[in-house]
Amino acid sequence: MHGTRVHDTQQPVISVRNLWKVFGPKAARVPVSAELRELSRRELLDRTSCTAAVRDIEFDVAPGEVFVVMGLSGSGKSTLVRCLTRLIEPTAGEVIFEGEDILNADEKRLRELRRRKFSMVFQHFGLLPHRCVVDNVAYGLEIRGVGKAERAKRAGEVIELVGLGGYEKAYPDQLSGGMQQRVGLARALAGDPDVLLFDEPFSALDPLIRRDMQSEICRLHREVGKTMVFITHDLAEALKVGDRILIMRDGALVQIGTGDELVAAPADDYVRDFVRDVPKSHVLTLKWIMRPKRDDDPLDGPELGPDVVVREATRSVLAAEKPVKVVKDGELLGIVGDEEILSIIAESGS
Ligand SMILES: Nc1ncnc2c1ncn2[C@@H]1O[C@H](COP(=O)(O)OP(=O)(O)O)[C@@H](O)[C@H]1O
Ligand SMILES: [Mg+2]
Repeated sequence: MHGTRVHDTQQPVISVRNLWKVFGPKAARVPVSAELRELSRRELLDRTSCTAAVRDIEFDVAPGEVFVVMGLSGSGKSTLVRCLTRLIEPTAGEVIFEGEDILNADEKRLRELRRRKFSMVFQHFGLLPHRCVVDNVAYGLEIRGVGKAERAKRAGEVIELVGLGGYEKAYPDQLSGGMQQRVGLARALAGDPDVLLFDEPFSALDPLIRRDMQSEICRLHREVGKTMVFITHDLAEALKVGDRILIMRDGALVQIGTGDELVAAPADDYVRDFVRDVPKSHVLTLKWIMRPKRDDDPLDGPELGPDVVVREATRSVLAAEKPVKVVKDGELLGIVGDEEILSIIAESGS
């Protein structure tokens, strides 16, 4: 979904600054203590009985972006995403949503934001068992006081959008896991929120269904273009749906980047472990494998852009008589020949 990446000049939808969530007694003293802030998870627990589930996290989510948060189980992903809407109360920091500091919002404003601006999709679908699909999907609208005809119309639209047309009158227990999660998606979309938040929505699904649902998210994102924050512990999923990926470990931010940045330049061994098995040619782009031009390089080879994925370029590079020039805005950035392509393919194991 890299084509949908947004420009730096746009105001972020969500800005998170110095965000902390500490669980335990007198949690608030941890972020303000120069000494306690620096302790490892274990030391902090031993000394204070506190767990810093989110430690000094900072990031921006741009309009229309799919922003993925990834990390091993227990790294703080769920806590972080719940802090964004104050389903969990942050201990310190700022969460700015569309210019408004959410940590200053009163109860009434928070309820309004949660109803109108955010929607959350969880791993466990949380459908109401005694309500049929259309009534589950329309539930949020009903709470908002939207009239019956209007509700039915909107629910019908989003049910079509998620590919559940024909199942309006079915009950949750008549549907497969994948279809139930589609209902969850439709329900989240029904209120036309500004941001969709997903907490490992597909982790309980079978691998094949899971792949379908990932494609479904990509398609939905193309069609409705919503800003999404998507949590997963699965790198393949992160690479498939995400424009950018934030990697967390023990509550802290380890690296933020696009998939190709993480694969090409992992910040440390934790990230390297995550990306180890990714077929490089599927993720890396020509800018990562090109070499500087040499004097004996012919200048009349074919041209490709720096953001073309290696796998997509393989055939044309190998077929060309001359090395390919990597060019952007008329500027020659580097050269990719058979050698560069073949070495990356060898590393990809494909
Ligand atoms: N209510 C809570 N009380 C105390 N510790 C918690 C609470 N919720 C989460 N934690 C701890 O915070 C850390 C991060 O948890 P969580 O955000 O659920 O991680 P993830 O979603 O990445 O698996 C874990 O060590 C977890 O045990
Ligand atoms: Mg979690």
